Amino acid sequence: MPVEIVEGDITTQQVDVIVNAANTSLLGGGGVDGAIHRRGGPEILAECRKLRAGHYGRGLKVGQAVATTAGRLPARWVVHTVGPVWSDTEDRSALLADCHRNSLRVAASLGAVTVAFPAISTGIYRWPLESAAKIALETVTAELAADTSVQTVRFVLFGQQAYTVFRTHLP
Ligand code: APR
Repeated sequence: MPVEIVEGDITTQQVDVIVNAANTSLLGGGGVDGAIHRRGGPEILAECRKLRAGHYGRGLKVGQAVATTAGRLPARWVVHTVGPVWSDTEDRSALLADCHRNSLRVAASLGAVTVAFPAISTGIYRWPLESAAKIALETVTAELAADTSVQTVRFVLFGQQAYTVFRTHLP
């Protein structure tokens, strides 16, 4: 099954890559970012700091993705991506699609076969679940149809509402 939809906590998923809904600073935050750093331990932040001291001196741009160790999480890597903040006046859909596409391309470059995504931008960044589900599922489905080592993408939704919305939009 190339795309799975489950309800649960992404930090417990036994996959090759767990995708983090990070922010530009790459230095942690609340929501899923906070959960990943809490459960993953200090090694993740240490690698994020190295990225900031090197190639990502100005932080990670919206839509970009970068990998670190997964620390103590049951995964091999965490791929951090920065989702767009919802805007009523500006259509940032392409940036949300970029988050998913670039996260999968980074995962594939590592040789990952299974990847877990949270519902990027739908928490603190206020993106409506319906719209986010459509963009996420369309982008991931298209990427899986292309040439990639990734065989399974699992959307891990926190709560019944998000789970139901994503399930409804699974092509
Ligand atoms: N597992 C799976 N999903 C989770 C978890 C978890 N442990 N914790 C939260 N979520 C869900 C939220 O319910 C929401 O649906 O992840 C989705 C994304 O919410 P946020 O984590 O708030 O991420 P986002 O909306 O992209 O905002 C990013 O929040 O945490 C900060 O540092 C982060 O500044 C950045 C901003």
